[in-house]
Amino acid sequence: MKKVLIAPSLLSADFGRIKEEIEILEKSGADLLHLDVMDGHFVPNLSFGNPVIHSIKNYSTIPLDVHLMVTNPLDYILPLAEIGVDMISFHIETVFHADRIINEIKKHRILAGIVLNPATHWNSIEYISELIDFVLIMTVNPGFGGQSFILSGLNKLIKINEFRSENDYHWKIEIDGGVTDQNSDLLIQSGADILVSGSYIFKSNSYKDSIRSLRLCSLS
Ligand code: DX5
Ligand code: ZN
Repeated sequence: MKKVLIAPSLLSADFGRIKEEIEILEKSGADLLHLDVMDGHFVPNLSFGNPVIHSIKNYSTIPLDVHLMVTNPLDYILPLAEIGVDMISFHIETVFHADRIINEIKKHRILAGIVLNPATHWNSIEYISELIDFVLIMTVNPGFGGQSFILSGLNKLIKINEFRSENDYHWKIEIDGGVTDQNSDLLIQSGADILVSGSYIFKSNSYKDSIRSLRLCSLS
């Protein structure tokens, strides 16, 4: 039986009552809090940055998973390390020297992840796969919550899962974008270890029921 981790994306939360939102998510079985940092440059939207993550850290008892959608990820690593986040992922499309960024993240004992846009080939992780702790496969174009799952992301997951098995790597695979109870079973069976979900959880009447429904097949 595989334990899949559910990471609600706070992008769809009510930030006017974020402390309460986090308390409800934790009581509802969320494993991680997924925090989408957008700079209005790499993606056509702004979200929140380090000061907000600092507040969230004060309210949260579960690990913080920061997804950087920014042009200069290196600038964020030290402040995020000082806040005490647990995972940082950055887009491979944004950097010239991915190794350096990964090493910088790991230097602070934070788990390092590479994010792949829908149009980025799965094999862009091939020569850094000895270094990473996780891969985040975007299954929507980054920048907004509430978009539909892009089906080619499933093929990418299958390829990356095969590559991981063939080489006996132990990093995790995270899926982000358009994840609902309609596709979570297939994603878990295809190798996903962490499911990010924003609008599906926050639009539901019960965070507990929606979180449970996302991981259902992994427990059967
Ligand atoms: C999109 C973000 C996602 C987003 C997911 O750029 O990276 O984390 O919040 O939201 P849903 O689950 O609504 O697609
Ligand atoms: Zn995200």
